[in-house]
Amino acid sequence: MAKNIVIIGSQWGDEGKGKIVDLLTHHVDAVVRFQGGHNAGHTLVTKANQKIVLHLIPSGILHEHVLCMIGNGVVLSPVAFMKEAEMLKQQGIMLYNRLKISPMSPLILPHHIALDHAREKTQGRQIGTTGCGIGPAYEDKIARRALRVSDLLNEENFTTNLAEIIDYHNFILEKYYQTQPVDYKQTLDQAFSFKEKFKSLIADIPALLTQLRLKGKNVLFEGAQGTFLDIDHGTYPFVTSSNTTAGAAATGSGIGPRNLDHIIGITKAYTTRVGNGPFPTELNDDIGEHLAKVGYEFGSTTNRPRRCGWLDLVALKRSIIINSISSLCVTKLDVLDGIEKLYICTAYRYNNQYYEVPPDTEILAHCDPVYIELPGWSESTVGLTDYTQLPKNAHNYLNKIEELTETPIGIISTGPEREQTIILNNPFE
Ligand code: IMP
Repeated sequence: MAKNIVIIGSQWGDEGKGKIVDLLTHHVDAVVRFQGGHNAGHTLVTKANQKIVLHLIPSGILHEHVLCMIGNGVVLSPVAFMKEAEMLKQQGIMLYNRLKISPMSPLILPHHIALDHAREKTQGRQIGTTGCGIGPAYEDKIARRALRVSDLLNEENFTTNLAEIIDYHNFILEKYYQTQPVDYKQTLDQAFSFKEKFKSLIADIPALLTQLRLKGKNVLFEGAQGTFLDIDHGTYPFVTSSNTTAGAAATGSGIGPRNLDHIIGITKAYTTRVGNGPFPTELNDDIGEHLAKVGYEFGSTTNRPRRCGWLDLVALKRSIIINSISSLCVTKLDVLDGIEKLYICTAYRYNNQYYEVPPDTEILAHCDPVYIELPGWSESTVGLTDYTQLPKNAHNYLNKIEELTETPIGIISTGPEREQTIILNNPFE
């Protein structure tokens, strides 16, 4: 029986989705990206022990048998796409015969990037974006003025519409942000230079997904970012501009929601966040530094240091509801090795009031975490592949997560490499 499985980040992104997508890709015929753009950063380790960071192209591309798709929910930067394709080519990975792009994906063009930078420099409430132009590109989509991949095929219309759009955005760049405008002719020529390449990649993604389902093929839907960066459900306004939650797998690809079989919530054994916004369990102490150092917590898109903190079950429980998470995959368990006492946040407190579900962002920013304490373990768990090899206290820690979230843990990751994984339940088997 064909299975459509969704992988999403259950926290603020960077949970280690790329590795798990890559791991499960052995069982699938296709991998689909359905939201976000090249703001994502999925770090993979190849068989030759080489690190590859993918931003836009689905992580399944490392597997020769897999068809990769970029759905309509993704905002697509042609420049970022070509750069990544070139990088893969240099690694000996040919992608053009097994990559398909939705004609409906909105394009990220230079004015989106200029606007993203201008805003971050000037506006009072800085979000700490990746500077990839994601927000402005989604704004254009919602405002119904975006140029989409299919528009590249109609030169005349593209030429006229781009002129209008650039006029509009240049007005804002120059008059409001008092910064440099973007060059129309250069933008146009650059966009057309991608035309032939994109023409050969365009496909009807919902139709392809239907064909795969009818043929009994497995498909993986690869989420980017994390639940609390979701434009609706996240810590607004400190969020990204797409829906990062599981429902977006349907709207962002065109698969019917009833055809989604299992949602895996990737959950780091602690919590990290890049960019600004509330983070109740953040640790500005030696333990925070230790997590950052051992976990190598630097943003894979911007290389910014990630903020680190304890595991937050208030957030995770909300994430399980919003995404209808079927099973959890706990990543980076090994990073907790050697920490004497571990803490899990089970509630927030503000003004003598306790919150067991996340409150409004304004309140959340003032909340203190309420913790339970658990004993840590001194043994190394790095690279363990068998659950029974884990120290007793690691079992305790994982059992506590399962007990308090009432959700089973199906996969545990104990290192960056594919093999460094404990699989308790493979949803494809
Ligand atoms: P944007 O997506 O570039 O607009 O950035 C909005 C917020 O989302 C910022 O806080 C970014 O740091 C965060 N963000 C975007 N992509 C990722 C990601 O892949 N991992 C973690 N945070 C991200």
